[in-house]
Amino acid sequence: MCSVVGYIGMKESRAIVLEGLSRLEYRGYDSAGFACIDPDDNRLMYAKSEGKLSQLVSRLQDDPIDGFAGIGHTRWSTHGASSEQNAHPHFDCHKQISVVHNGIIENHHELKRQLEAAGHSFHSQTDSETIAHLFEAALTGARALPDALKQLVGRLQGAYAFVSLLQDYPDTIIAVRKRSPLCIGIGEGQMFVASDMLAFAGKAQNVLFMPDESFALVKKDGVELYSFDGTSLPFTVQEIDVTWDLYEKQGHEHYMLKEIYEQKTAIHDTVDFLHSVKDRVWDDLGMTAQQIRDLDSINLIGCGTSWHAGYIAKFFFETICMLPTQLHLGSEFRYLPFFPSQKSMFVAISQSGETADTLEAVRMVHDCKMPTVALTNISSSTMVREADGFLLTQAGREIAVASTKAFSTQLTALYWLAHRIAHEKKMISLEQLERSQEDLLVAAEVLENAIENYKLLIIKELAPRYARYRKMLFLGRHSSYPFAMEAALKLKEIAYIFATAYPAGELKHGPLALIDTDIPVIIFSHQDSLIYQKLLVNAQEVKARGGHIIAFAFDGQSELIELADVVFEIPRVKPLLGPLAMTGLMQFFFYAIAKELGRAIDKPRNLAKSVTVE
Ligand code: M6R
Repeated sequence: MCSVVGYIGMKESRAIVLEGLSRLEYRGYDSAGFACIDPDDNRLMYAKSEGKLSQLVSRLQDDPIDGFAGIGHTRWSTHGASSEQNAHPHFDCHKQISVVHNGIIENHHELKRQLEAAGHSFHSQTDSETIAHLFEAALTGARALPDALKQLVGRLQGAYAFVSLLQDYPDTIIAVRKRSPLCIGIGEGQMFVASDMLAFAGKAQNVLFMPDESFALVKKDGVELYSFDGTSLPFTVQEIDVTWDLYEKQGHEHYMLKEIYEQKTAIHDTVDFLHSVKDRVWDDLGMTAQQIRDLDSINLIGCGTSWHAGYIAKFFFETICMLPTQLHLGSEFRYLPFFPSQKSMFVAISQSGETADTLEAVRMVHDCKMPTVALTNISSSTMVREADGFLLTQAGREIAVASTKAFSTQLTALYWLAHRIAHEKKMISLEQLERSQEDLLVAAEVLENAIENYKLLIIKELAPRYARYRKMLFLGRHSSYPFAMEAALKLKEIAYIFATAYPAGELKHGPLALIDTDIPVIIFSHQDSLIYQKLLVNAQEVKARGGHIIAFAFDGQSELIELADVVFEIPRVKPLLGPLAMTGLMQFFFYAIAKELGRAIDKPRNLAKSVTVE
């Protein structure tokens, strides 16, 4: 959610920390801050500001503090408003301990009460400040830093990652991780700490993903790693094989636009990858071929866009390999009954592999000894490490907060997985499995061409026209209903236009009352002739009440095409891949509306890319 970055080495830290923060700004952008140790007198210095990182950068130009050890933060508010006062770093009473934090300290009310009673005074409304004061208390009387840290983490409840810089230990950055992601970049004579290794990609050669419930003392020449009980831990590092250049906008105005255009390639890469792992895929999933043959159901879970991908995939699994499929919402999972089964598998869908709600569900299900699989885009994510197995999409890093290519590659992988299971169960032949890969490539082609075909019309006419509306109603049926939900989410999050999705058959049970000239109705069609006929009836219901229709129709759906006020006509693909084929055009249309409205497309207000708090 928030991002934390730290640097210690022979170079001055400010520019390095600020660059790291700017690479991770997708994680939060309500306020930002920086702290460093003054190399002349070893004093702890800091600057913070409300708003985006650029405001902190300007502030630091006027007050250019710097040092060889520095930490920084960009915030996505949970406790306390977005303000300079609540911006990180936070400090102890004597401003000698600085802390930048991602996550939530669940028992902070109680801790704050105790600390205040002991004479500590607080300056923010955040839960994070508690860490600094508690650290101050723990250091009093502790023999060494690891003892104090052991005491500190023993009192903190919740999921958190924080980095701390202390005036009394100018050659050390402290990194602490419990459930929230944190990694250490290992260079020569320099070390980095960050919520995501993207912050130091290209600068450090190796990365250490901190194990859960561990803390580290990071010095420029070495790292000491400890478990929460104070035991020293051995560790191995991994080579970093990505560079930041890959993630530049490459001439596009926004990351979202770049990522919309990357979808055809991302789908191709995902199909190629899945094809290449087809013989060992059950090993990757942490299951045996026999377990797959014995499967009698599938469980899918996700949040937001990933949940929508799961909803569409339910149709894949139930149709292609005929397995009853239950879909769970990550944020609701732990409050509802769940019935674990050894004959099922629990597939957690998450672009980042870090979403706290989904991750917690994986942990719960894993504890029930039911097979868990992370379907994610990030091989180094916590979910991949904690689930029994994984299946990777090959979307490449997605930087824009709004998911685009992550969604289309999730659909790709899930469609393929349904076929691969069907093949394992001898329900389809190898040729049919291979044909499913071809079908995905055809859908990818259609996805890209549809954008090209309508791009100019959207930019010149449709985006300016529809940017004037304040609300829209989205309809679909069967698999085009969850697609309508995904479309409504996209419009809301990037254009700030209210949109709600309904299964079209439900219109007459209430929402038909909304129909008037102020609410465009967007209908996402389906290629199945029965479903299409039913959708047509719903479209007529809208028209009969003076409604205004924008239709995403498939070639030859002449009745819908005639009825609609605006039509996007899309070539036919395999019916279950209809949503995938419509994806690019839908995203481009809403991108153009958001652009017309001058919205902060890559970093919409109040949101963050990686939701690592529950
Ligand atoms: O990283 P995840 O896929 O687990 O993220 C889940 C949601 O937060 C995410 O899909 C979100 O809804 C999208 N960014 C919206 O476009």
